[in-house]
Amino acid sequence: MKNILVTGGAGFIGSNFIHYLFAQEPGVQVVNLDALTYAGSEENLRGLPAAAAYSFVRGDILDGNLVSALLRERKIDTIVHFAAESHVDRSIHGPAQFVQTNVMGTLFMLEAARQVWLNEKMLPLEAIRFHHISTDEVFGTLAPGDPAWTEEIAYAPNSPYAASKASSDHIARAYGHTYGLPVSITNCSNNYGPRQFPEKLIPLMILNALEGKPLPVYGDGQQIRDWLYVEDHCEAIYRILKEGRAGETYNVGGGNQPANLTIVRTLCDILDELQPGGESHHQLIKFVADRPGHDRRYAMDYSKLQRELGWAPRHDLRNGLLATVRWYLDNPGWVEKIHQHSDLQQWVQKNYTEREK
Ligand code: NAD
Ligand code: DAU
Repeated sequence: MKNILVTGGAGFIGSNFIHYLFAQEPGVQVVNLDALTYAGSEENLRGLPAAAAYSFVRGDILDGNLVSALLRERKIDTIVHFAAESHVDRSIHGPAQFVQTNVMGTLFMLEAARQVWLNEKMLPLEAIRFHHISTDEVFGTLAPGDPAWTEEIAYAPNSPYAASKASSDHIARAYGHTYGLPVSITNCSNNYGPRQFPEKLIPLMILNALEGKPLPVYGDGQQIRDWLYVEDHCEAIYRILKEGRAGETYNVGGGNQPANLTIVRTLCDILDELQPGGESHHQLIKFVADRPGHDRRYAMDYSKLQRELGWAPRHDLRNGLLATVRWYLDNPGWVEKIHQHSDLQQWVQKNYTEREK
């Protein structure tokens, strides 16, 4: 692992992964290919070590010629494919973009890798790896008391986002099976932490609370997610790249399973502690119309990763949430830039104001 192509490295998890990677291996070379959609920002790469061999390419994963050229010219041996449309609510408003980016984009990435790595035999097989980043949402939803998902469970995606990710997983697996491309896949649960775009539950709640705006809880707020601090996800990916086997998929999860309402209440407690004065942030909680087709519960069984590579989450939920709130409090400049350069305002209008009607 010397020359790594990260796709979607200007987004939340991709940028955290690049920071993590340079902290682990200062000598590595990273090319970040990102289209800078509403969700991507070069701000997220601020603070990389001065000596880091890092370069940014603004471009689309659907541009096969660009991807092939990068693989050849930068002598890429490892691809970590994060780039995707990632927000479930946006997929409900507009599924086509999700199929385009997540399904076709992944296909084009795999096809470029097949062409350059396998057909042109640029590098020996044992030197290359295509790592595809996916989600627990491909497995559908659990009832209370159901066991957590293992890697063997059947796919049953419910939202257009989950269906597009499921499709991309199948294509990635098929490239491994049919062409012998060394592919590995991780299916991970809900991440939270620094640099997450504030359309997702945790940063949305933190920023709304700081601005005294309502905290919109969908439905009864009793849906359960398996929260994982983003650095723990980065560590899991890193270990799999170093020691994981091609042809395998690994579940990654946090083992934390409180209901959404409890998460929101915990954030309010933390904010009441860090920003006292005035009314409690709990007063801002507001129940709103539920997400259509809302999955009730996710839980990941990550024992394979624990058994084979010794990975387990290092951050407990309370400390992870505290670190996350502190990061947003300490980075008002980042928040300001996101407000200036993204479509957040229009999105809030579409998803929340329209919802009220
Ligand atoms: P994000 O929305 O924060 O970032 C996505 C990045 O991809 C952005 O920088 C965007 O500009 C880029 N991108 C989008 N379309 C592109 C294209 N056509 N070409 C090049 N770049 C493009 O997403 P995230 O939350 O960081 O998620 C990253 C990956 O992890 C996704 O594949 C997602 O499905 C998966 N995942 C996310 C979570 C989570 O909780 N956020 C959990 C499990 C898996
Ligand atoms: O499970 C992994 C997935 O987690 C990733 O694959 C997705 O990319 C990521 O976006 C995330 O999907 P979710 O839909 O679970 O995350 P989100 O933050 O949008 O919502 C978390 C829960 O909170 C979900 O049950 C919906 C609820 N919610 C969300 C928002 C934005 C609310 O109650 N109110 C809100 O305003």
